[in-house]
Parts: sequence; structure tokens; C-alpha cells
Amino acid sequence: MDNINTMNEIRRKVDIVDVISRYVPLRQKGKNFFGVCPFHDDTNPSMSVSREKQIYRCFSCGASGNVFNFVMDYEHVSYYEALQIVAEKAGIEIQGIHISKKDHKNEKFYELYELAHKYYRNNMSSSYAKKAKEYLASRKITEEMIKKYKIGLSLERIDHLTKLLLSKGYDLTTLNDLGLTSFDKDVYMNRIIFPLYDLEGRVVGFSGRRYDGKKENKYVNTKGTPIFQKGNLLYNYHEAREFARSKNQIIVMEGFMAVIRSNEAGIKNAVGLMGTAMTKEQAKLIRRLSENVVVCFDGDEPGRKACLDNGLELEKLGCQVSVVQLEDGLDPDDYILKFGEESFQNLVKNAITLSDYRIKVLKKNIDLSSDLEKTEYIQSVLAETSKIEDEIHQEFILKKLANEFNISYNTLEKRLLSLMKEREQEEKKQNSIKPMVFEKPKIKKDKYYLATYALLYYMLVDKRCFRYYEEGKINFPQEEERFLASEISYYYQKYGIITPADFYTYLENNEKLKTVLNRALELDLDQKVEEKEILDYINTLKEYQKNQEKKRLEKMMKEENDVMKQAELALKIAHLKESEN
Ligand code: CTP
Ligand code: MN
Repeated sequence: MDNINTMNEIRRKVDIVDVISRYVPLRQKGKNFFGVCPFHDDTNPSMSVSREKQIYRCFSCGASGNVFNFVMDYEHVSYYEALQIVAEKAGIEIQGIHISKKDHKNEKFYELYELAHKYYRNNMSSSYAKKAKEYLASRKITEEMIKKYKIGLSLERIDHLTKLLLSKGYDLTTLNDLGLTSFDKDVYMNRIIFPLYDLEGRVVGFSGRRYDGKKENKYVNTKGTPIFQKGNLLYNYHEAREFARSKNQIIVMEGFMAVIRSNEAGIKNAVGLMGTAMTKEQAKLIRRLSENVVVCFDGDEPGRKACLDNGLELEKLGCQVSVVQLEDGLDPDDYILKFGEESFQNLVKNAITLSDYRIKVLKKNIDLSSDLEKTEYIQSVLAETSKIEDEIHQEFILKKLANEFNISYNTLEKRLLSLMKEREQEEKKQNSIKPMVFEKPKIKKDKYYLATYALLYYMLVDKRCFRYYEEGKINFPQEEERFLASEISYYYQKYGIITPADFYTYLENNEKLKTVLNRALELDLDQKVEEKEILDYINTLKEYQKNQEKKRLEKMMKEENDVMKQAELALKIAHLKESEN
């Protein structure tokens, strides 16, 4: 038997309501149970748990899943650890049960990356590596570090790896799809190869750095593939997880060099983005490791902006964010090499809160000779200060402001208090317009949205709907829904039976697909459905596609200068319109 089956069998032996009750008090209301969601900052019972469907979901933050997802997110553990916890709590013996990490439909792809990685690492210990090693040494990357971080090397030969992999029986299409080759050539030439890992620690991509001193295309990264989507991953996630949990703190940096160097400096709870952009998925992953987040980006303009933007996103997820701002021109790697490990550890220890950081940034940008700008500055500082919960901290800021701008403390305090009141009222209002928890949530349901997600839901619970999909009668307009549908289809064909809770096991921690699935479940549809309803939804999607096609043709017609071609397009549009009736 395979993993997904085994896990779902264990899942069926426990009741999600019992398991979640151990973490969060639940109250029954109708057929569902409700509690305060532990995955975002809240005091309202916005999380519902369904005994019937064996899933939970939060109306407010969108967290959703089966019993394993809950334990995984609550305890900050991997899927396999969550399985152990659930089994243990339910008194199920899993000693004899074999959960193999090797059972995965992408297993072949991982093997391929392992092979490629091995090849690159071999190169690094060959005589071709002299220059690369000199370069690495000049950047204080030692032999030991090369081994520890499994750094490799691609050679100047343009199809060495391609030939090697072809000789092992892999076909060129697969190699191309996986971003290892481009046509019949290697993707990486003459670069130092850093392996990139997925959340479980499997190598799923590479970043190749040039070392010939030229600046253009400093890094070449693996393109998006079925196993590598850079917005869903964080460098060092699998290693940092334990440390972040035990320290209850996670540090976020721009790139892998920063993380590697910090790691060497004893800071093991750091993860890396690939640049300054952070996706929602990445923010959620970070939040999953700890709610105490330190952002530490490079000492330049994009880095400063990333602190503010990413910090805000993380705050929205309920994180306490603090900031390490490096001096101009330095990244963590440079800083540690220049000032030493201890100095950097101290910076991290003394990270300032995001609020303080905002105030600092505001200050930098004002013209001190302009009263108007000064007033605006003071207003913004007070606005920031009103968000701070610690009164002593607030008083410090007010005193500083009073001194600096020669304004009476009382005036500032009065203003602050009124801002805090406004804020409180605003929050109250916000809370009262939040969907009533015991009602169905209000989703903006345009008919295409409804058709899309209803069909996805019925694919999970109704064979007829699934069959229509298999016959090619359902075409989802957006890529992510198409992707979910194809995963449902894969699951169904492999296991012959599917339920939403089972399917969650299969999705593991694919946040993106979980979000899409959640939208389908949010509709709270019945399992029973008339065939006619399914057909209506299918027609609605067809109509949508026709409209899109019409819009596309009309746009083309507008941009077309050739009269003959215009006429052709007009004819096509007319045909489309005709087929509508
Ligand atoms: N990055 C990239 N392509 C670039 C520049 C950056 O993909 N041309 C990504 C890489 O993942 C890198 C991260 O952004 O790890 C951070 O970039 P940067 O700070 O420029 O790289 P460093 O880690 O400082 O690398 P180095 O010190 O070798 O220049
Ligand atoms: Mn650098």
C-alpha cells in the first residue's frame, strides 16, 4: 500500500473534532463545530470544523485542511511528524506501518535532480575546479563549506550533463521540462552551482553563479517546473524548521549566500527568499515556523523597501515583526565578513520593531526646514505609535518627539489618545462587519466563479461530474483551477475513490492548491446534486470562454489595419455570436 492510502486510513480512524478540541475549545452549532482560529490573530470563533467532511476551515484567514494539516500548522511540524502525533493521540500503533518518502508521482524527477547534483558536485572535486575554488576561497567559502552546503560546478562543455542523463535513459523532453536542459544543451555553463531544496529537503532546482568577474546574469536559476516553484519555497526551510521552533523565532533574508553565512555564524533559524519579493505562500510558510519574525534584507533601497512591504504582509498574518537594517551597501554575508559573527548576532538580538523601523524611515525622508513636513512627520509617528501596545514604549516615543520638535508632551499625548480611540472604534466597526460567524460566509459569487468552484467541488464528490471532466467537457478558464482539476483527476484514477479530506492528504503542504480547494469547499454545497445543475455550470463556463474569445478577436480587429483581415475577424466574431443562440 502506498503512503497516501496509509495516511488516509489512519485519518479515518480519528475524528477531526476530537483532535482539534485538544488544541482549541470547540462549540457545536448545527452540524458543525466552531472555535477561535489559531492561525491568525482573532478573538472570534471564525474556524469551523466539520465532523461530516472531516475538514476544518477558517472564514477569516482561509486556513483549511484535514486533521494532518491542522496538526502540522499548529505544531509547526512536517507531514510525517503530524501523522505520528495524530496516530499517537488516537492510540494507533504506527510502528509497523511503513511510510516511505519514495512514494510520490514526482519521484523520477527527484532522482533526476539527485543525479544532476551528483554530477555537479563531482566536477567541484575534479581538476577543472581550480578557478572556481579560487573564487570561492576569495569569498571565504572554505572547502568544508563546499561539502557542507553541497556546492557544485558546471563546466564549460555545453552538453556534458545532457549527454550523461540521456545515456541513463532519460528523454530530452523530460530534461527540458525539468529545466536541466534547454533543447539539447546544458542550462548551466561555467557556473558555481548552489542546490535549491523543497520544503522536505529534496533538491529540486539550482542557482548557478558566474565566477568570471562579469556582472550580467549573476545568477541563473531553474525555471518553474512541476517540482520547483520559487514562490512556494524558502531556502533552508527544512533545516531551519527545528531551530525556528525551539527558538520561537524565524529570520528572513534575501538569498542563500546570506543564509549560508548566517548559518556559519551560528544563526540557524534563517530562511532565504530568492530576491526581495515575498509571495503569500512564502509568508504563510514563515508564519508557520514562528510568529516572531526578524526581517534582515540587504542595506540598499530595495532591501529597505522589502523590510516595510514584507514586514507589513507578515504583520497581517499575525506575526510580530522586527527589523535588522544593515548599513548601506552590505548584505548579511558582507557584514559578517567585515564585522564578525558576534557583531551580527548582536544586531539580530537588537532588532527593532517594525513600528520603530517605520518611524525611522519616515524621519529620514523629511525636510527639517519645512513646518508642513515636520507636522506630517509627527502625525505619522503618532499614527504608528497608536498601534504599539506597550505604554512605556509609547511614552518613550512621545518624550523623544516632544524634545526633538519642542512641542509639549501633553499636546502629543492628547493627540495620541484620540488617535487610539479612533483606532479602537475603527476596529469595532471592522469586527461588526466581519461575516457573522454562524452564518454562511458572504462570497462575491459571480456566476463564473460559482460555476468554476462548484464544478471543482463536484469533481470531488460526484462521479458524473468527474466523468464530464474526463471526457473533456469541462474547461476551467484559469490555470490554477485547471491544475487542481488535473490533480483531482490523477488522484481519482490512482485510488478510484476520493473525498475532500483524503485529497488534502495528497496535497500535503501545497498552499496554492489548498487555497483553490478551499474556495470550492467554501461554497458549502451539498454532496447530492442534480445532473442538470452540473450541465448548467458546464455551459456557464463555455459561455465564459466564448466571451473571452470574442473579446480577444475584437481587440485584434481594432488593432488590425488590413481590411481583408478585419473582415475575416468580423466573420469569426459573427460565428461565435451565432453559436450562442
Ligand atoms: N538573485 C537572482 N538573480 C540575480 C540576482 C539575485 O536570482 N541576478 C536572487 C538569488 O536567489 C540571490 C538573491 O536573489 O540569492 C539575493 O540576491 P543578491 O543579494 O544580489 O545576491 P547575494 O546573495 O548577495 O550574492 P553574491 O554575494 O554572490 O552577489
Ligand atoms: Mn552578497
